[in-house]
Amino acid sequence: MGFYSQVIAPRLIDTVMSRPLFSEYRRQILADVTGEVLEIGFGSGVNLSYYPESLQKLITVDANAGMNALAKKRVKSSHIQVDNRVINGENLPMADNTFDSVVSTFCLCSIANVSQALQEIYRVLKPGGKFFFLEHGLSDEPNIQVWQNRLNSISKVIGDGCHINDDVDNF
Ligand SMILES: C[S@@+](CC[C@H](N)C(=O)[O-])C[C@H]1O[C@@H](n2cnc3c(N)ncnc32)[C@H](O)[C@@H]1O
Repeated sequence: MGFYSQVIAPRLIDTVMSRPLFSEYRRQILADVTGEVLEIGFGSGVNLSYYPESLQKLITVDANAGMNALAKKRVKSSHIQVDNRVINGENLPMADNTFDSVVSTFCLCSIANVSQALQEIYRVLKPGGKFFFLEHGLSDEPNIQVWQNRLNSISKVIGDGCHINDDVDNF
């Protein structure tokens, strides 16, 4: 992983992802997270302040050590005990049926093999467990789709692998 991915991209991603624009979505989706929780693509830890007060412990994974380093400040000031690991979401070392909740916000768009990551999420969830996710993807508007397709290669470079034209309904 190069200098851009480890040092520049984490700062850029943190600036974009901590914008108030996303706050209400984070609040809504994370309000019902309970039990043993795994967050995939933890990034700079922006979700920490949106988890329910009752949550005491969280296991997180992110493929980029630079993101984990940036998350340290938020982890330190949170009441939640965070076990933050540098691991790829497509290959989780956790046992089957481990978690009540798995969380992923704006991460599937950056994962190279989404179907493998989804299989892993399903595997580590307990029966009846829930997957909470927020994602962006291909617009319903053809005019916007054209630009998403045109700009996707640039987004993958600047956003450290982020695709802006994923057909989320067909993940
Ligand atoms: C756009 S950021 C979102 C960060 C955070 N979830 C948020 O909502 O602010 C995407 C994150 O996914 C991580 N990521 C990308 N590919 C991954 C993979 N294969 N496994 C785990 N994390 C990955 C990136 O390192 C980055 O931190």
